Amino acid sequence: MTPKKSHPLSSWHIVFPNDANPHGTMFGGKVMAILDIQAGIVATQYCRRAVVTASTEAVDFRTPVKVGDRLETIARVVFVGKTSLVIKIDAYAENPISGKRKHCTTAFFNMVALDEDGAPTAIPPLIVESDEEKHDFELAQLIKRNALERRKQSESRK
Ligand SMILES: CC(C)(COP(=O)(O)OP(=O)(O)OC[C@H]1O[C@@H](n2cnc3c(N)ncnc32)[C@H](O)[C@@H]1OP(=O)(O)O)[C@@H](O)C(=O)NCCC(=O)NCCS
Repeated sequence: MTPKKSHPLSSWHIVFPNDANPHGTMFGGKVMAILDIQAGIVATQYCRRAVVTASTEAVDFRTPVKVGDRLETIARVVFVGKTSLVIKIDAYAENPISGKRKHCTTAFFNMVALDEDGAPTAIPPLIVESDEEKHDFELAQLIKRNALERRKQSESRK
């Protein structure tokens, strides 16, 4: 299969009152859903296959996102295995009036490409060139190893 490059995909969301938790800031589950959808879009664009989320790395929410803020997510494929991809997503909250911008979180999603029968299927290898891409690739390798180790441990506890 011909190796491919991944380009960052940015997406904007307006934070409405019905996105908020009882404290008036954005509900974490809503942020996770936005990130998961964005990861799925980027993964599908890369491999042109149906994809599912296999697991996520722990997500730390660093700063609250306020109702009325704009949430920008920037996602890129940072690692590709045989049938799986790791997507890195950075999320930023921006006040639309002041333009003040805060980094909210960086999340990593493990996605798997599926064929027409729903089985994992091979996808094109990733072209990794810049120092940033090399750094993210190595980090994603570690993240994937951790996820597989977690899966092994949870299966052995059943
Ligand atoms: C993800 C899923 C397709 C993996 O199927 P599987 O038969 O266990 O797959 P395999 O063990 O053959 O692994 C296939 C690939 O998935 C990767 N993978 C499997 N589980 C993983 C996990 N928990 N985290 C990261 N990668 C995972 C493997 O490393 C492998 O990658 P590679 O081909 O690049 O080396 C399957 O578990 C599934 O369908 N899960 C439900 C997904 C879903 O519904 N998500 C929505 C939220 S509920």
